[in-house]
Amino acid sequence: MDEHMSGQMLIHGGQLSDIALRYNIADEKWLDLSTGIAPTTYPVGLLPATCWQRLPQQSDALLKAARDYYQTPSLLATAGSQSIIQALPQLCTLQGFAHTRVWLPAVGYQEHRKAWQSAHYQTLDYQDTPDITLIKQGDIVLVINPNNPSGKLHTRQQLTDLLLTVSAKKGVLIIDEAFMDATTEHTMTPLLASHSDLLDNNINQDALIILRSVGKFFGLAGIRLGFVIARDYWLKPMADVLGPWAVNGPAQFVGIQALTDKRWQKEQRTALNHLSGRLESLLVDVFAQPIRGTSLFKTLLIPQAPALFHALCKQGIYVRLCDEKNALRFGVPSEQGLKQLESALLSQSIQRLL
Ligand SMILES: Cc1ncc(COP(=O)(O)O)c(C=O)c1O
Repeated sequence: MDEHMSGQMLIHGGQLSDIALRYNIADEKWLDLSTGIAPTTYPVGLLPATCWQRLPQQSDALLKAARDYYQTPSLLATAGSQSIIQALPQLCTLQGFAHTRVWLPAVGYQEHRKAWQSAHYQTLDYQDTPDITLIKQGDIVLVINPNNPSGKLHTRQQLTDLLLTVSAKKGVLIIDEAFMDATTEHTMTPLLASHSDLLDNNINQDALIILRSVGKFFGLAGIRLGFVIARDYWLKPMADVLGPWAVNGPAQFVGIQALTDKRWQKEQRTALNHLSGRLESLLVDVFAQPIRGTSLFKTLLIPQAPALFHALCKQGIYVRLCDEKNALRFGVPSEQGLKQLESALLSQSIQRLL
């Protein structure tokens, strides 16, 4: 994927009203599996009036909650990881990286590509895993871990080896962990804790930036909350670029509750593992092939993807037709949604496409 995409509005799923209009089915009748957002939302109770009324000063309670949740002290709250994805090229330019090369996964969340290309960085693609031997002085390397939509998961060892190379070449490794919350044994965030056992002496911690999203696992995409985890070398200019009111008061309040509610997090992890396992079994049974993904979505590589997308839409089921048009990504449904999906997949209109 190398066409220049600055200035284009990208489609990521979630545009239910457009699809509802196109298929003439009312919004509320759809099963929307087009995003990788959890089907169950963190239970947001009543919010104190001060959340709405006061200017959202930086909240120490939110930072404390996030430091505990991400197991690292060095972080900054943002309005979702998207806001940092858009700001990263400007920040890298500020730190002297202008006109360097940026390695991107050929398949992956395309807002990264759009941001770097809009800022006139040269983008290069890798398939699945970056090739360490091709990394040159000053290169920026982006890894989405686990990848959306391919589900490719890099191990800590692979990423530590990559970071060692990038750090030696005075480049930057950016790891987008938007979908990491249900598989935290693979997160690289503890590497940015000062006394990390994972840290190799030859690694410069300034060479690493990690992005986390509160939207996916907590089912809270609407509040726009995420975190950048990096050393002060990056956090100070980032805070300047984002300005004083980057995260609104209600998002801060809800974020503190969600990030500290360990019991709910455990239940959510169990529920997502269970539901995503059932989704995977259903897809394997129907399509008789391996399925990739995470506990928040499953991806089916199939040449008939456009026809299947259309047939599912006709039944009021909205999944994500991937950019390459050779895959469908299914967000994890609730129990009820799984039943609806199963009967649609077993219907004649779908079966005759297989
Ligand atoms: C891989 C990846 N990173 C980041 C984002 C942005 O998420 P948010 O801005 O809601 O944190 C998305 C959204 O779909 C994504 O798929």
